[in-house]
Amino acid sequence: MALYEVQTFSDPENKTVHEQKHVPFIQAPEKVKKGEYFQVSIKMGEGIDHPMEPGHFIQYVDLYADYYHLERVNFTPETKAEAVLTIKLEKSCTLRAFELCNLHGQWEGTFDIIVEE
Ligand SMILES: [Fe+2]
Repeated sequence: MALYEVQTFSDPENKTVHEQKHVPFIQAPEKVKKGEYFQVSIKMGEGIDHPMEPGHFIQYVDLYADYYHLERVNFTPETKAEAVLTIKLEKSCTLRAFELCNLHGQWEGTFDIIVEE
């Protein structure tokens, strides 16, 4: 597999440790009010930390609401691969986080969110 292909869980019912370390783990309310700020937490990864050392680390994570880019957070080998962002939404969407591991390429994690009037 080429590194420029976006990867995610090949089988969500049977996640490998390699996948769990890389797929961005998004936590947010399942329902929010239109236009009201709320917090989104993104971690690499789910229940297991990705290494953060000079030879192997997460370089950044980008957060999208569907296809609309919201924010990028950059990391270094000295930081933790996690971020808490404050955002607001106008309509229901899928939050999509893309991270880049310097050795293992791009990975996508998603979280569906309902926006109420
Ligand atoms: Fe990695």
